[in-house]
Amino acid sequence: MSSDSNHHFSQSHMYASLTAYLQDLQESGIDGIPLEAEVAAASAGTAAMRASAAPQGKEGDRYEHLSAPEVHETLEQIRKNLGACQRCKLGATRKNLVFGVGNPKARLVFVGEGPGADEDAQGEPFVGDAGKMLNRIIAAMELKREDVYICNVVKCRPPQNRPPEADEVTTCSPFLLRQLASIKPEVIVALGTSAAHALLQTKVPISKMRGKFHDFHGMPLMPTYHPSYLLRTGGNSDSFWSVWDDMTQVLRLLKLPVPDKIRKK
Ligand code: URA
Repeated sequence: MSSDSNHHFSQSHMYASLTAYLQDLQESGIDGIPLEAEVAAASAGTAAMRASAAPQGKEGDRYEHLSAPEVHETLEQIRKNLGACQRCKLGATRKNLVFGVGNPKARLVFVGEGPGADEDAQGEPFVGDAGKMLNRIIAAMELKREDVYICNVVKCRPPQNRPPEADEVTTCSPFLLRQLASIKPEVIVALGTSAAHALLQTKVPISKMRGKFHDFHGMPLMPTYHPSYLLRTGGNSDSFWSVWDDMTQVLRLLKLPVPDKIRKK
């Protein structure tokens, strides 16, 4: 994607598109999309309150009164709505629900697969070995963990660290979409196959998707290898440099400096 095309990813386009998507989800009966009560509350008694109280025509008309900026909810509200979630079978075996961490106004969001044992124990994403690798990537970008936002496709640990199953992804991903709609990042990085497949609704191998931006409801999304894969393939490997190439594209899109890195052959 050239920098000339950045305007395609303007915030208003992204926000309107995500809002429409969330409404579609709600209209298709997905549990946990609080488009009536919580959106009205989030808008603190303004037009949204009037809209939710207004007589409604056919289903799709419900939010036509709302201009996009009024449909806003905070990360706290989304976390509260998750509560002690038991919407899928992962709820029964988790220790802690791992919601996400970082800057609620981050320009860059990293999305992983799901919590592992360390994350389940601590309630924070990417705090184990994969987290240390992600921290290295963030530091190499000359960013801080607090600058970005980090979360996962599923918020509870799959047993034996297996990939999340389709029903778990379907149940949990509306909450991820709401987090992304709340943060409104300028770029999303999908870490690994599960995140890229869940967000882009595809089964294309990560090796074919990485290295270029994809459109996620108006937001540029860069798929890249998962930090755990980098740990398995070794520190200075081709996969590591592939991730670095992907991150340099992210930095350029964000108009941030791209640090020089020396590649040892
Ligand atoms: N792997 C992930 O995908 N997410 C985490 O939070 C930790 C490891």
